Amino acid sequence: MTAFHYADGVLHAEAVPLTTIGTAVRTPAYVYSAKALRNAARQFQAALADIPRKHIAFAVKANPNRAVLYLLAKEGFGADIVSGGELSVAREAGMQPGDIIYSGTGKTRSELVDALDAGVGQFNIELEAEGELLSALAIERGFRAPASLRINPDIDACTHAKITTGRSTSKFGVPLGDAIAIYERLALLPGLDLRGIAVHIGSQIVDIAPLEAAYTCIGELLASLRARGHTLTHVDLGGGLGVSYRESEAGADLEAYGAMVARITRNWNVTLQFEPGRCIAASAGVLLTQVTWVKPGAEQPFVILDAAMNDFMRPSLYDAWHEFSAVRPTGTRMTADIVGPVCESGDTFARARDIDSVGAGDLAVIHTVGAYGATMASTYNCRALPPEVLVDGDRFAVVSDRLAVSAVARHRLAPWQSYAQGIDDPVAA
Ligand code: LLP
Repeated sequence: MTAFHYADGVLHAEAVPLTTIGTAVRTPAYVYSAKALRNAARQFQAALADIPRKHIAFAVKANPNRAVLYLLAKEGFGADIVSGGELSVAREAGMQPGDIIYSGTGKTRSELVDALDAGVGQFNIELEAEGELLSALAIERGFRAPASLRINPDIDACTHAKITTGRSTSKFGVPLGDAIAIYERLALLPGLDLRGIAVHIGSQIVDIAPLEAAYTCIGELLASLRARGHTLTHVDLGGGLGVSYRESEAGADLEAYGAMVARITRNWNVTLQFEPGRCIAASAGVLLTQVTWVKPGAEQPFVILDAAMNDFMRPSLYDAWHEFSAVRPTGTRMTADIVGPVCESGDTFARARDIDSVGAGDLAVIHTVGAYGATMASTYNCRALPPEVLVDGDRFAVVSDRLAVSAVARHRLAPWQSYAQGIDDPVAA
């Protein structure tokens, strides 16, 4: 039985009817299944069972919710982070600093300082100057920073242009052709414990051939560096495995991926590191929403949800397909544009989609939003940030509150502005 399934005509998350969550938490709300997260984590580990020495670091950017990170830490995962904020949430969730890998193209000086002081397990260096700064900061602290050099192999991951990261024109890593020279200079720096290389060529990669090509390049580079006398003990193979977003399309084949990695890396004699995000969390979440109106349209009706592009950006940003279903399907179908209430035509989840018939007041879900969902939400149109709910068996709990813009209380007048100047003070009134 999958984590999200129908029982008695109602969509459930594990043993909890989504109608119960809709009533208790209201909508829109992200709902995660602990069982689905655990299963995905175990499937990933099982696919890599033949790899003798490995460390799996969940890409926190995919889902930084504390309850999610805690659950994955219990499954033995570390964290892959890209900012000081992610360092804080990973640590607050209980991740051990030594299990944290710090990736990211633009780590600032203060972020590096905080990460060094926290004892982060590995820094993935993205450019030579960053390595020099890291070395200097580590020397000030009296130790050497564990580090790997991220390589850009100039390989097309064959995914959406906005999430491909391994082409020569993308900002990530150092060019493969310069890698040996840069590695050799960084290896001389007294504050670095340079111990390996890293690669990550993109996300939502379904065909594993580009990953194999990238890992093959990395294997050749590893051999060349060793031939020059360097000791490399770690290789970070990044994340990037794609999931099935559409019933008719498969995700990446994890077993085939594991077999490919085992074959390519057989003689590497290193600890392999992995940074999966999407394939762990995506299928473990739905966005629960209520239909506000069904409005006639020129070609088909608009199903206007109470969820919008600010709550879930992937369709607007990447034209991503996400399945939509009614929480209580009636058995009839309709063709509709599924949209949110935000004032942009881009606030569209699906066009001319064949869906369960729904009417005003009905609950529905957008599927496969557990990765790159809540984490990318904004308050655009002064909308609240959506809450997140974790379901485990027959229990559920709000693990992130709905946050109204007014609750953040960030905005204020400039000191030279005052309500005495012809505008009534809204608070005093
Ligand atoms: N490691 C690094 C260095 C990364 O940049 C990423 C993702 C990952 C690991 C995790 O990749 P995954 O296993 O999740 O594919 N917002 C976009 C996805 C951006 C991915 C950015 N980097 C989306 O919604 O599709």
